[in-house]
Amino acid sequence: MQTVHGIAELRTQVMAWRRAGERVALVPTMGNLHRGHIHLVERAREQAPRTVASIFVNPTQFGPNEDYAGYPRTLDADCRQLEAAGLDLLFVPSVTVIYPRPLEEMTQVRVPVLSQVLCGASRPIHFGGVATVVSKLLNLVQPDVALFGEKDWQQLVIIQRMAADLDMPIEIIGIPTVRESDGLAMSSRNGYLSVEERAVAPTLYATLQAMVERWRAGERDYAMLEHEAKARLAAAGFRPDYFEFRRARDLQHPTLEDTELRIFAAAWLGRARLIDNVPVGLA
Ligand code: PAF
Repeated sequence: MQTVHGIAELRTQVMAWRRAGERVALVPTMGNLHRGHIHLVERAREQAPRTVASIFVNPTQFGPNEDYAGYPRTLDADCRQLEAAGLDLLFVPSVTVIYPRPLEEMTQVRVPVLSQVLCGASRPIHFGGVATVVSKLLNLVQPDVALFGEKDWQQLVIIQRMAADLDMPIEIIGIPTVRESDGLAMSSRNGYLSVEERAVAPTLYATLQAMVERWRAGERDYAMLEHEAKARLAAAGFRPDYFEFRRARDLQHPTLEDTELRIFAAAWLGRARLIDNVPVGLA
């Protein structure tokens, strides 16, 4: 595995592969890798003979009171895992490589509406930062395909919309969430949980699944189900942010005719803000 920090080295290598007619797949990450990320690299290797990953803790997607400074940076361990997974090229840019000018002077990418609901309601600048950095990474690497985890479903649909709206000739693929054996979705932020909180954390997925069962049984009073789910999370020790049935593709509230839905949840447990989502119906 080759590791590069600069744009010129990155482009030289990717261009050589392209000239040889080889497809390229990209897995963007913020590092602190877990099995979910490695699964993305494995799926990427099925998509293309050449795989690139990026590790960049993107300052513009963290709000002023969020965990940018304390976000775990574990580059050596990450490199070992990526090498073992058979990755070809790792791009590790510095903040000045990605943002060479003061941030307030730099072009930004915004995906309205989709970015304002669910996580966007409590993290107003988050998805603008994600869309901006992902568009830069896609322009820098120019992959044929880029892979993202479905745990961040809202991020996935925002990036798909951005790629479509900006006519990027890149396929954006979502990969199903990898879970611990007790159902907890893999996340770098699980590392923030104490032993006691870790024991409670699977309740988030269990509550999502319980609501899927209620939907399957024919219950369609979404407001009542959402209220009940939040009460269940609060009773377990969470501080729920949202728990919502939404249409899977445009993230709008469902009507009774809609069948392609997902249930989305975000809740604080200690200092960890956990998110998860599951398909309902045809989604
Ligand atoms: O999902 C993440 O790790 C980040 O939001 C991403 C897509 C790498 C952009 O910084």
